[in-house]
Amino acid sequence: HPVKDLLGRRILVTAGPTREPLDPVRFLSNRSSGKMGYAVARMARYRGASVVLVSGPTWLEPPAGVEVVRVETAEQMQAACHQWLPEVDAVVMAAAVADFRAVSPSEAKIKREADGAPGGGDAAGGRRLLLELVAVPDILASLAQRRRPGQVLVGFAAETGRLEDLAREKLRRKGVDLIVANDVTRPGAGFESETNAAILLGADGTRTEVPLVAKESLADRILDWVAARLAGPARD
Ligand code: C5P
Repeated sequence: HPVKDLLGRRILVTAGPTREPLDPVRFLSNRSSGKMGYAVARMARYRGASVVLVSGPTWLEPPAGVEVVRVETAEQMQAACHQWLPEVDAVVMAAAVADFRAVSPSEAKIKREADGAPGGGDAAGGRRLLLELVAVPDILASLAQRRRPGQVLVGFAAETGRLEDLAREKLRRKGVDLIVANDVTRPGAGFESETNAAILLGADGTRTEVPLVAKESLADRILDWVAARLAGPARD
């Protein structure tokens, strides 16, 4: 990268989905590929930062020179983020954290047939199973509460409508500096895609539209914002 404007900075990036177990062989998860977060980690490294990448399960090759911490559940991701927070100048939270986990995951594999009952179901279409779920903690909001002045926090908002309203609301509710809002229903944007389009909404009132570009380019625009913020005077 021609510009080493993040030299001497340490950045924590999260990426990928989380997995919340239902039993020893099953989990709740989502369609996140991890590409956006890995792109941010790679570009931050190119720009000279030392990078810690807390990653949920993905098939992606970790970027060279980046320290990777692999996690599975939201709880593990939160523990890793809290552990690293005091060491970093900025956090880019690109992970698609599962919103819910099972209240009590089964220790044994859940069976389709009830114990002792014949399989095959009935006229109503088979045995019914109710899963009780509970919301996982909001990791980003918890980081915002623990951060020290001057640390820059970036979150994402993947929405399917009313993009900007929802993103602005998220900016306030989570107490972060920047929300990267993208409309995941738009062709070529969001999960599993190589490209993304977004609106960068800053708590300082800045608004930057990024057209449909490679995720590396969007990552660079996000890092432009972070680098400018870190270069400025310490806030609060
Ligand atoms: O509330 P929502 O899931 O839309 O917020 C998305 C942003 O918050 C992303 O940056 C995501 O990584 C983060 N998040 C989190 N912990 C959660 C849910 C989302 O840090 N439990």
